[in-house]
Amino acid sequence: MEEKPKFKTVQEVVAANEGLPERYLQPLTGGHEDQPLNGPVPEMDIPSIDLSLLLSSSEGRQELSKLHSALSKWGVVQVMNHGITEAFLDKIYKLTKHFFALPTEEKQKYARDIGNVQGYGSDMILSDDQILDWIDRLFLTTYPEDQQHLKFWPEVPTGFRKTLHEYTMKQHAVIEQFFKGMARSLGLEDNVFLDMHGENARMYPPCPRPDMVIGAKPHGDGSDFTLLLPDKDVEGLQFLKDGKWYKAPIVPDTILINVGDLMEIMSNGIYKSPVHRVVTNSEKERISVATFCVPSPDKEIQPVEGLVSEARPRLYKTVKKYVELYFDSYQQGIRPIQAALI
Ligand code: OGA
Ligand code: NI
Repeated sequence: MEEKPKFKTVQEVVAANEGLPERYLQPLTGGHEDQPLNGPVPEMDIPSIDLSLLLSSSEGRQELSKLHSALSKWGVVQVMNHGITEAFLDKIYKLTKHFFALPTEEKQKYARDIGNVQGYGSDMILSDDQILDWIDRLFLTTYPEDQQHLKFWPEVPTGFRKTLHEYTMKQHAVIEQFFKGMARSLGLEDNVFLDMHGENARMYPPCPRPDMVIGAKPHGDGSDFTLLLPDKDVEGLQFLKDGKWYKAPIVPDTILINVGDLMEIMSNGIYKSPVHRVVTNSEKERISVATFCVPSPDKEIQPVEGLVSEARPRLYKTVKKYVELYFDSYQQGIRPIQAALI
């Protein structure tokens, strides 16, 4: 038998009703002093991009310039008219919620193995003194198909597998257009950024002490970019800009896309991989579905030629297998993109 993680999930901690274990407590000097974890934060001001117009020769210009401004300023944008119906997005959200509401024994059938990210469980615990995030995840690679480990794909609720597969297929069109739009918005040839992707879903169960724990520690994503369906009712996602936290808006029927470290590298720093975190809520659990678009592991990632010049010298080294390096740094709260700087 394979070894299963011996750590409790956040859901098990909640069910045990034994109070908040110390390992989740954030140090009081976490750099959050002027904006406490449970304090009010202003909302970020990011545009909605109409994906159906982004590549249109007649109406695309305005969308491309909105995209350029949002990604260089915030690294985040809302995407509307993405071709996936609200009913379908709702179905994914409901199935995910249903899965996390199942009894522990049912979910444990899909438990991830130690040292592996795929499957259901708490986040990886890599050292004894690691402060834990208040988060459980169901982490699945959905693409390419030969990388899917179906033993981690829930058979309950019915339709979960099929719907996730359909979502993956539908996302292809969004991802392709978004890659092309980013290239065009930087004056580059359409296909320079195009590549492959993987996917996951996660949740943040209700938390007893929102001022002391964190749903997801501050981090940048290790992806090209990330497609996010945030919870429609429960806020929590915040982005850092010029040293201040801002909350992400909840806009129905849109997909939130944020730039990841690899896109920052490819765009030679023009598009920003924003630091973000998730704060918890004491009454409600929060569910979100994130898809990380990551390049094939054999690809070398570096600033594209068209964005390097005498006026804008190359900022990053060439990186390979960045995603592997990423998980270790993530749990240590270190940004691996620092190591890629020239
Ligand atoms: C992530 C992340 C945000 C959210 O998993 O990288 O930032 O709202 N998620 O779940
Ligand atoms: Ni993230």
